[in-house]
Formats: sequence, structure tokens, C-alpha cells
Amino acid sequence: MIRIRSAARFASLAAIALAGCASASDKPMTTLSPKSDLAQWIYRLFIQVTLWDALIFAIVVVAFILALFVFSTRVGEAGPASTAASDLTLEVAWTLGPALVLLMISIPTVRTIFRTQGEHAPEGALEIRVIAHQWWWDFQYPDGIKTANELHLPSGRSVRLHLESDDIIHSFWVPQLGGKRDLVPGQVNQITLVANTPGMYPGQCAEFCGLSHANMRFRVFVDSPADFATWQTSQLAGPVSVPPDRQLVMDGARIFANSPCTTCHTIQGVSRGYIGPELTHFGSRSTLAAGVLANTPDNVAKWITDPNEIKPGANMPPLLLAGPKRDALVAYLESLK
Ligand code: CUA
Repeated sequence: MIRIRSAARFASLAAIALAGCASASDKPMTTLSPKSDLAQWIYRLFIQVTLWDALIFAIVVVAFILALFVFSTRVGEAGPASTAASDLTLEVAWTLGPALVLLMISIPTVRTIFRTQGEHAPEGALEIRVIAHQWWWDFQYPDGIKTANELHLPSGRSVRLHLESDDIIHSFWVPQLGGKRDLVPGQVNQITLVANTPGMYPGQCAEFCGLSHANMRFRVFVDSPADFATWQTSQLAGPVSVPPDRQLVMDGARIFANSPCTTCHTIQGVSRGYIGPELTHFGSRSTLAAGVLANTPDNVAKWITDPNEIKPGANMPPLLLAGPKRDALVAYLESLK
């Protein structure tokens, strides 16, 4: 009975462990499906070290089993005769053996550490400023594009991210593309990578940074070069002009322009705030509130009504708007493609 119960327990534990082996699309936070050169280097090091560890584990287990079953003394049997006090060959072997293993692990480790520093980028690399705030991400491109919480990268091109912090220490981590690297106030750290497979890769702040650390998420979109160029063109264009037939959007634009939102948020040609995320192309993003919610009118309404309900500790105050006025503001924000 006990045996059946422990077998069942083992089976359920194995099921939980194997659940971690699902494909990368089911487990987007996996580091075992590298999609950039940087992530690939770290992954290769992980595999090398794991193989060395597995070899040592196998040797220890074999020695242990031999000691238990082959070289053990049965009850009533005489023990083995004692041998010489020391055996020089054995002692040299078990000193040199582990030293050699440590050397084999440290050489690729140190090489990978230097290789992944990211200070040097090849000519023509795209340079992007990444500024962490409690609790959102600010991405600034050299051509003036500014976006928040959603980073677009061209596939196949070198990208150097300059990591900065506006307040305290955060950490940039996109499991399938690389990281983690700290964003430290008063210092600029770098990550250089070439993302090789178009797709969406979720990221997460990986350094505890206060109440909403877990809500400091972001998304990296790796676009084909053509898609990236299209995205760039759309972002460089100003905010879309409000179609005159859409009364609700026009009302929303007026409400925004006369609201306290303008002190913190920038919409090009409308306001020049810099404390909160840039909103010029807010409607083109797939998420809001640093990747916490899908960008839908209902969620935007929820967010502006009480940001602290969704992101505890958020600096954004609740907007005292309800009914048609709130609907108009939401319609305007969503129109900013
Ligand atoms: Cu930022 Cu944790």
C-alpha cells in the first residue's frame, strides 16, 4: 500500500517536473529556447557545465554503488586488511581530477562573461536607450522614436541597449533573448545582441524594486527588417489626426488636452510631460500598464479609473472621470495608432 502511494507521489512529481519541458511557445519565460546570439552563448555554457556536472554525478554514483555492494563487508566477515597509510598516486589523482574539472568549467565561463559584456557593438548597430522607472520601461531610439513597455527590434541586426535607471536598481531580462543585466542609477550598462527569429518575447524586471516589481513587465517584438521599417515609419509620423466624423474621439482629445494627464505624459503636438510613459502611439501597443493588461478599451477605462488597483504603488493618480467623459478619453487614447 505504501509502495503504491509513493509510486503515485513520484508520478505526480514527475508530471510537474516534465511540465517544465513544454515547448517555448507555451512557456515564453524559458531560457532553454535561445533566440539571439547572446542567449545562445549563455545556453551553450549552461549545457557544457551541465554535462560536466552529469559526468561527475555519474562517477560519484558508480563509486557509491561499488562501495555499497562490491567492496562492503558482510556481517560476520573479517574486514579488509589495512593498507599503507598513504598512497601518493591516489592522492595526486583526487587532487588533480577536481582541479581539472574546475578548470574545464571556468574556461568557458570566463570566456562567456567577457563575451556577453556588450560594451562593444559592431559598426551600424542600432543603439537604444532603455530607462527603467518604478514600474515601467522607457525605450528611446536614435531617430527620436520613444515608446514604453514595448520594444521593437529588427531581426538579424546588431542592437546595443544602453541600460539606465531613473530611480533604483532594476534588471533587464528577456529569457529567450538574454539578460539579466542590472539598470543602476548613475551608471550605464550595456547589452549587445542580434535577435535572429521574428516573434514576441516577454520580458520582466528581474531585480526586486518595490511593491509592483512583479508588474514591471514588457514585450520585445523582433520584426523582420521590412516590418521594422514599417513600424519605424508609423512611429516617426505624428499622432494620427483625429477623424472629424468621430465626435467621441474629438471630445476625448479635448478632455485630454485640458486634463492633468498633460503634466506627465507626452503626446506629440499636444503635451510635453516626461514623468509617465509616452502616449503618442498608445493605441498601437498591445498592452498597457507595463505589460500587465491587454490594451482594450475596457482595460484602459479600468486603468485610468484606479491605477493602484492594477499596479499597487503606481505614481499615476486616479482620474476622477466617469461615464461619457471617460469613454471619450478612452476612445481618444485608443485612436492614437
Ligand atoms: Cu524593476 Cu523589479
